[in-house]
Amino acid sequence: MSRVALVTGGSRGIGAAISKALKGAGYTVAASYAGNDEAAAKFTEETGIKTYKWDVGNYEASKAGLAQVESDLGPIDVVVANAGITRDAPFHRMTPEQWHDVVNTNLTGVFNTVHPIYPGMRERGFGRVIVISSINGQKGQFGQVNYSATKAGDLGFVKALAQEGAAKGITANAICPGYIATDMVMAVPEKVRNSIIAQIPTGRLGEPEEIARCVVFLASDDAAFLNGSTITANGGQFFV
Ligand code: CAA
Repeated sequence: MSRVALVTGGSRGIGAAISKALKGAGYTVAASYAGNDEAAAKFTEETGIKTYKWDVGNYEASKAGLAQVESDLGPIDVVVANAGITRDAPFHRMTPEQWHDVVNTNLTGVFNTVHPIYPGMRERGFGRVIVISSINGQKGQFGQVNYSATKAGDLGFVKALAQEGAAKGITANAICPGYIATDMVMAVPEKVRNSIIAQIPTGRLGEPEEIARCVVFLASDDAAFLNGSTITANGGQFFV
């Protein structure tokens, strides 16, 4: 029987590439999404990957959604906490709402995604927790005090969880994508985006599939000794 993988925010952008790559690698995949019904339906039609709607920022909704996935497909062995949002603004103009929305989705959302299914992973003695952080959690970014704080928080999350899960066969790792060609990056004003691309030694934005391949590796049995680590995939823009 194939292993079951769940990808939050898995019907668009980097998440969609991850869902498809995991399916290609033989996993039974479920993708959650928050709001875009049309994109999710199109994604399911094109890929055959089931999509489920819930808000990762809501614990009870996450718990119910995860239970539905497990009842449909079986216990989740691989969880990819990918769902994330931006609410960019310079700090002096950032509203409490912009702060809370980003913390709730990008950081609390990771807790809400992993916590309900973690006891099952412990019982079965196997699990792969993969969190999609960001280059901006490593280096910080002008206009992203909220986002950078959450993405740095994601790295602390995996480092601590890695130590707790190790004895039970559960690894927790993060990937820090740099600037990838997705709607999120394309929403950055063109002038700012071009100045960012100029800082990437590879000379281009990354492709979602380049992050997806890192996920497939971290999910595999071959990656059993990687635990608490961060894969940095940013075209040479920043070294930790
Ligand atoms: N460093 C220093 N100063 C900067 C700066 C930077 N990186 N960016 C802007 N500034 C300065 C500007 O030069 C300007 O200065 P003056 O007023 O003296 O001219 C001032 O800050 C205001 O800049 P803007 O005109 O851009 O201000 P704004 O209010 O219109 O927009 C902003 C502010 C929303 C933060 C906008 O600059 C922006 O969108 N920046 C990009 C933020 C970014 O990189 N987001 C990443 C999104 S993708 C993502 O998050 C995925 C991932 O994981 C990588």
